[in-house]
Amino acid sequence: MARQVKDIFDALTADHDRHRILLKKLENADASPDERMNLFEEFTRELKGHASAEEQALYSVILAKPDTTDKARHSVAEHKEIEDMLNHLATVDIASDEWMEKFEDLRDEYIHHIDEEEEELFPAASDVLTEADEVHMRSVFQRRKTIEKAQAEVTPIAEPEH
Ligand SMILES: [Fe+2]
Ligand SMILES: [Fe+2]
Repeated sequence: MARQVKDIFDALTADHDRHRILLKKLENADASPDERMNLFEEFTRELKGHASAEEQALYSVILAKPDTTDKARHSVAEHKEIEDMLNHLATVDIASDEWMEKFEDLRDEYIHHIDEEEEELFPAASDVLTEADEVHMRSVFQRRKTIEKAQAEVTPIAEPEH
């Protein structure tokens, strides 16, 4: 694998590892509602920024390649599900048991998503990428992640419920 390909997947996986740490902090039942709200807002901006930049850098490229179209479509559909879950969670009282139940559903869905990306999607993608793709993906992800995260909002939307 060329160094630049490794770099883009390393950058995506480093983000995932940051998200795993945020999930652990959000699981802490001793956190005050204010602490939890700050963590949830950071988590929401991180995930929305990451997913958008990942779509612009990686999924746009591998959707176009027949060998990875199905896998990429599946993963982008999960991004939409996760965004809906984040937006729904933002409508629930953060101090309630209901919030923690719905958070745990979101956590399980997100862990499934990033494990699948790392174990199946990234290896499949690395098989079909050209040198030009690698250069494009690396520059797009770094640039867009910064912009998308800054623009991402905590957006309470009551429906659909998961
Ligand atoms: Fe993703
Ligand atoms: Fe990802």
